[in-house]
Amino acid sequence: MSIVIFGSINMDMIAQTPRFPQPGETVIGNHFITLPGGKGANQAVATAKLGRLTYFVGRVGGDSFGRELLQRLETFNINTQGVFIEQKSSSGVAMINVETSGENTIIVIPGANGNIDETDITRLQTILPKTSLLLLQLEIPLKAVEMAAREAKKLGGSVMLDPAPAPDNLPDELYPFIDIITPNQTEAAKLVGFALKDSETIKKAAHTLLQKGVKIVIIKLGEKGAFYATENEQGFVNPVTVKTIDTVGAGDGFNGGVAAALDRGLSLREALKWGTIVGALTTTKEGAQTALPDLETVQQLLINN
Ligand code: RIB
Repeated sequence: MSIVIFGSINMDMIAQTPRFPQPGETVIGNHFITLPGGKGANQAVATAKLGRLTYFVGRVGGDSFGRELLQRLETFNINTQGVFIEQKSSSGVAMINVETSGENTIIVIPGANGNIDETDITRLQTILPKTSLLLLQLEIPLKAVEMAAREAKKLGGSVMLDPAPAPDNLPDELYPFIDIITPNQTEAAKLVGFALKDSETIKKAAHTLLQKGVKIVIIKLGEKGAFYATENEQGFVNPVTVKTIDTVGAGDGFNGGVAAALDRGLSLREALKWGTIVGALTTTKEGAQTALPDLETVQQLLINN
């Protein structure tokens, strides 16, 4: 049917360095670039590039970044009627350091994203009836995330939560409103309170989250693929081997891939394949939205994997 993403949109300031600086150290970088990002917007671009009808609900500031970020979404035919331009605020920005291995560190300054409240839920309410899947992340206030999940469930839609950035605590009352949760290993560890260091602890974490009321748990394992569990099935999904240069947005690509596949009516296992392929391809190019693959590229890899 179609997908709505309620979340953050940032301008990413990306510095590429030979290695991460130590505290108090100055490192000379190789390259700097400004590119559109934000976990919510990245997931919207991912589903739109994979051919799904996509709506985005969020906030930008009344600055030039805001205008540019909105225009970029529109170039992918994403419906942005649910985006509020908050004149008095600055748009969200992310200071990103990518080192030679492709690993990254990110500091997000939320700007307008941080002011999202019940007025944005009112805009979301007008869009939810046109969609069947709501994608959420945690770069906007948690209260708004909770309200959005409840609204979507009230209307019979499905809710997919990417618990990133990892919260110190996710309220237990939220879990029953989540159909699919997609933490990475670090985020899952924070949610369950123990480290995920081997297959056994990964399975244990997934089952702990199922017991909290989620229907499908997907743990993103980066270059090791993914693990999923429902009440009736579970399994590991093999990774796809690519030449990684920049991991920014890989998790968003994964989520977008899973969401797009489910929206096409594919099975959970097939959707996981899409997620791992889209996530992996996102690491082969610089940036987040700029690195997300289109449908044709994903379909090609699906044939070969
Ligand atoms: O997941 C990657 C994203 O995290 C970046 O685009 C950055 O904006 C931060 O939100």
